[in-house]
Amino acid sequence: MTEPPASASPTLSVVVPCYNERPNVGPMLAKLDAALAGITWEVIYVDDDSPDGTAEEVRRFAHTDPRVRCIRRIGRRGLASAVIEGALASSADYVAVIDGDLQHDETRLPAMLAALQGGGYDLVVGSRHVEGGDATGLANRWRHLISNGGIRLAQAFLPVKLTDPMSGYFMLPRPLFERLARSLTGQGFKILLDLVLSAPAPLRVLEIPVRFRERVAGESKLDALVLAQFGGLLLDKVFGGLLPLRFISFALVGALGVIVHLTVLTALRQGTGLGFEIEQAMATVVAMMFNFALNNAVTYRDQRLRGPRLWRGLLLFMLVCGLGAVANVGIAQVLYERQMAWSLAGAFGAVIGVVWNYAVSATLVWRAR
Ligand code: GDD
Ligand code: MN
Repeated sequence: MTEPPASASPTLSVVVPCYNERPNVGPMLAKLDAALAGITWEVIYVDDDSPDGTAEEVRRFAHTDPRVRCIRRIGRRGLASAVIEGALASSADYVAVIDGDLQHDETRLPAMLAALQGGGYDLVVGSRHVEGGDATGLANRWRHLISNGGIRLAQAFLPVKLTDPMSGYFMLPRPLFERLARSLTGQGFKILLDLVLSAPAPLRVLEIPVRFRERVAGESKLDALVLAQFGGLLLDKVFGGLLPLRFISFALVGALGVIVHLTVLTALRQGTGLGFEIEQAMATVVAMMFNFALNNAVTYRDQRLRGPRLWRGLLLFMLVCGLGAVANVGIAQVLYERQMAWSLAGAFGAVIGVVWNYAVSATLVWRAR
């Protein structure tokens, strides 16, 4: 066996989360190769089993280029968790995170690296909102609104100044990432915010301007849910992980379910003559289906049920919540009989019901695989 080189691990690992980015893989690798001349680097694609065969495409290049690596996750979705796993698979001195759709300007990577190697900074962020950067690539007005609203919300909570806290383009020393990794929630899109909020002492951040290019191939995965998830991330950080993020989401969905229930009930009362019992039962079923669908899409977005498992899940969910309702009413009844004020007894029953529904559906309906 020949001696390995003095340092066998690269200086820089470029982590690329990707979902359905097949046509962008080849062009991205060529761009990285050109931009990173003179630096020892590797690229770690983290693919969530994209149906378009992104992982296969990455491996095709990996075949002839050992700097190209691929992590393929099955049964999971999520940008933040993909980034975390990619970064944790690195042994390099520095880790960069960049989108796999060519929207981030990779020619800034050497400048970002140089800034970190200078020792004055813990984190370098590619920002669209500092002098020289621009956000023309954001798809439409709606995206601008989400983006700007989110930025303002974030800045109110941030320990350091970030003009573009939603950026998915940044670099930091790998050992620092590893120190912070345990505190990351790994939920949603906003891994940069998660990092900044998880650091025990404010990070020394340098922002460098980047152009945000138009997406050429494939489509954006960012939708309106992202803002909701992002609010959840802030809540989680503010409450110091007191309540699990999922529980908060589950409870909020439940609250919306009550509104749906009352709306349906009102409509049935006015529009049909079925009698209160039947109308109440119908409203309950509609609200349960609504809650199930929303929990499946938001609360358990990362392990969303589909196909036959969706129907099985719905059935189980209705059974679980049915029992939860019985527990709720039973407990409230007992408390009320023991002279507790009706409002307090009712609230107690509701809380017990939500906790029951959450605990049981988390293990039975959306069982962690
Ligand atoms: N592994 C994995 N799993 N990758 C994902 C997932 C996922 O569930 N969802 C998205 N990605 C990848 C995409 O393939 C792309 O490489 C990158 O993450 C960014 O996703 P886009 O869908 O292209 O995001 P965008 O262009 O709308 O959002 C950009 O702006 C946001 C701020 O407004 C990105 O730069 C985000 O990182 C940034 O937060
Ligand atoms: Mn994009």
